[in-house]
Amino acid sequence: MTSVADASMDVVVCTLLTCFVPNTPAVLKEVQRVLRRGGAFYFIEHVASTDESSWTSFFQKVMNPTWQLIVDGCNIRKTTWKDLEDANFSELNLRHIYAPTFLKLVNPHIIGYAVK
Ligand SMILES: C[S@@+](CC[C@H](N)C(=O)[O-])C[C@H]1O[C@@H](n2cnc3c(N)ncnc32)[C@H](O)[C@@H]1O
Repeated sequence: MTSVADASMDVVVCTLLTCFVPNTPAVLKEVQRVLRRGGAFYFIEHVASTDESSWTSFFQKVMNPTWQLIVDGCNIRKTTWKDLEDANFSELNLRHIYAPTFLKLVNPHIIGYAVK
């Protein structure tokens, strides 16, 4: 977001973005750069299943390489919640949910907001 000045935004919203970016911490760093102090980052992202013993997790692992080829690099094994936890936000409100999609591979989502 090179055209956006430092600390100039009240809110940044990302929906279903991080599955497409190899370096999520770099995205979060850029979000923090443009947010003013107290500004909020809202997100909803599909992620890796946290239940390692589930069929969803198994099929995510098996299908991810093929999925990435077919769906333009989309990664269904992202652990974006860890990147958010590691980023230096002053507050993080994050929930793991199952989105109402018939495609089980992309059911696990995180939704929430972080405050700079
Ligand atoms: C799954 S689509 C989601 C589109 C839309 N945000 C939505 O929720 O319907 C992923 C989007 O990420 C965008 N994208 C991928 N890499 C990006 C990057 N490095 N910076 C900004 N956008 C990117 C793609 O252009 C695409 O529009």
